[in-house]
Amino acid sequence: MVRSFLRDTDFSRDEACEVFELAARYKRLRAAGVLDVLKGQSWGLIFFKKSTRTRLSFEAGIYELGGHPMVMNAGDLQLSRGETVADTAKIMGRYLHGLVIRAFEQEVVDDFAKHSGLPVVNALTDLLHPCQSYADMFTMMEYFGSEGANPDSIKGRKFVFFGDTACNMAYSLALAGSMFGVEVVLCGPEEFRPGPELDELFADASLKPSYSFTSDPAAAAKGADILYTDVWVSMGKEEEKADRIAKMAPYQVNEKLFKLANKNAAFMHCLPAHSGEEVSEGVLRGSRSIIFDEAENRLHVQKAIISMLVKKNAG
Ligand code: CP
Ligand code: NVA
Repeated sequence: MVRSFLRDTDFSRDEACEVFELAARYKRLRAAGVLDVLKGQSWGLIFFKKSTRTRLSFEAGIYELGGHPMVMNAGDLQLSRGETVADTAKIMGRYLHGLVIRAFEQEVVDDFAKHSGLPVVNALTDLLHPCQSYADMFTMMEYFGSEGANPDSIKGRKFVFFGDTACNMAYSLALAGSMFGVEVVLCGPEEFRPGPELDELFADASLKPSYSFTSDPAAAAKGADILYTDVWVSMGKEEEKADRIAKMAPYQVNEKLFKLANKNAAFMHCLPAHSGEEVSEGVLRGSRSIIFDEAENRLHVQKAIISMLVKKNAG
């Protein structure tokens, strides 16, 4: 069975640690030039949704690993005229060596993996965003650790996610955080609390959750090491915009909330950010914000994820 990275838990904790070590090495040695991990390989990048960071970091990353990235807007493929995912995937399996896919339904990335016979990387679905959560764990290890990617440096840290706690980022952070013993607190309106699908993800992976939910932002921020937020209106939820903004307003990450956190707490955001909505301009641009290191780390971590898949599938 070809290994893919469709869910945060598709790597064991040990494999994820190996990913982070490799990412640290790739980051240190980037200037040394193009590698030959993907020599002779063409990887397809399919986007059903918009992207800046994911598209660019994968495209650059595949090039830097020695491969040839081929970016496709799903709307330009025959898929948009009714060709099935199964047939599209089978065709791609005949031409390419791997796929990176951003889709709405998780089933689409699962089906591409099932029918293509290729390693597939989930580049965000409505359910999960595991490449971002891995980059976030790595960024926390850099921030709290003295050197390299030491998983012990994030164990027991209080990580609070504010806003839409039923979104892809909240779920992926709960899963990845639980793999590393992070105390993940999901904080948002009751109406947007995690659904049963999050518990199912934990059960399917036999992973013990280390997350909790609260609708009290002050209690959540107290003693936090990381304050994290994401847009209140995820891609595909645009029609709910006014309602979401009204209900999530009390969960804005701002200076007042930050005062309750630990002295050296950092602010993180997967980006793109909506300044003045989920985060105040002062926090977003302030000295505690590590958003650009976080975004940069997408590149290094994704190169390591792809390299791990290549290694596991060769072995
Ligand atoms: N964080 C993230 O995935 O950004 P993009 O939507 O720009 O890819
Ligand atoms: N929750 C956001 C993440 C964007 C990277 C979305 O799905 O739009």
